Amino acid sequence: MDAVNKIICGDALGTLRALDSESVHLAITSPPYNLAKLYSNHDDKMEYDEYLRWMKEVWVETKRVLVEGGRLCINIGENKRQNISYPTYTAFTQDCVDAGYLYRGTIIWNKNSAAKHCAWGSWNSATNPHIVPRHEYILCFSKGMFKLGGEKCNCDLDPDLFMTCTRSVWSFGTESKTRVGHPAPFPKELPRRLIKFYSFVGNVVLDMFAGSGTVGVVAKQLGRRFILIENSREYCELAVRRIEAEAGATLFDGNREVVRPGGSRRDEKVTLLEELRL
Ligand SMILES: C[S@@+](CC[C@H](N)C(=O)[O-])C[C@H]1O[C@@H](n2cnc3c(N)ncnc32)[C@H](O)[C@@H]1O
Repeated sequence: MDAVNKIICGDALGTLRALDSESVHLAITSPPYNLAKLYSNHDDKMEYDEYLRWMKEVWVETKRVLVEGGRLCINIGENKRQNISYPTYTAFTQDCVDAGYLYRGTIIWNKNSAAKHCAWGSWNSATNPHIVPRHEYILCFSKGMFKLGGEKCNCDLDPDLFMTCTRSVWSFGTESKTRVGHPAPFPKELPRRLIKFYSFVGNVVLDMFAGSGTVGVVAKQLGRRFILIENSREYCELAVRRIEAEAGATLFDGNREVVRPGGSRRDEKVTLLEELRL
């Protein structure tokens, strides 16, 4: 299936299964965190084991579509719901290693954010003080080998950014949900660093939980191609608007395309998506 420079409105796993093997150089994603977020087309409160099994299937399928040396970067926060903390980032790490990925390392994203709440547990007392997260994780893996083939002339890093990226703590602020119009967007700085650090100009960058399309916006701005998968039609359309507005109106070269499940069957591409949903 030719998915390059397309926003595919479909299920992440089902759509991944239809992508060609070894067709992606870098996958960057922030999956649903299972924190009961109010997404327009996903109930974000699965049983923890079921959630991990689903995610593992996604990591396995992502590995198939990556080229040898291709990279997977997973952004995930602390997972605390109803006063129970789940070590999701460690589970993802182990699941990816078990799936055969090579572990490159973990970046701590220091969100520089001020506390919005006062969930300290027992205030100023050792009885039950809580740790309030100010960070998220970016788990980084390679498929098959650590090196990614590419020409140095297609590398767009500069020494300062390179040094910044090699340090394991990255500090930058969060993105406004209201400004973007999505309940959990990450800031463009996150994919900007990962794309420059881990891919070459012209490479294909995938986000299988694309939300408002931040990875697509930045990939396009940086001269990469992209594949975006998102199961909410509302967010797919938001992603199209953002990519056009923030990365240039010529995005689809006059051939703008949003593939919509349930859309007109006269459109060949939509028919393909109908098949994917089975
Ligand atoms: C954490 S958000 C991603 C936000 C994105 N990084 C951004 O900057 O906007 C996760 C996204 O996964 C989507 N999603 C949930 N279940 C899905 C599924 N089965 N297939 C595809 N997308 C799904 C949600 O609608 C949500 O937009």
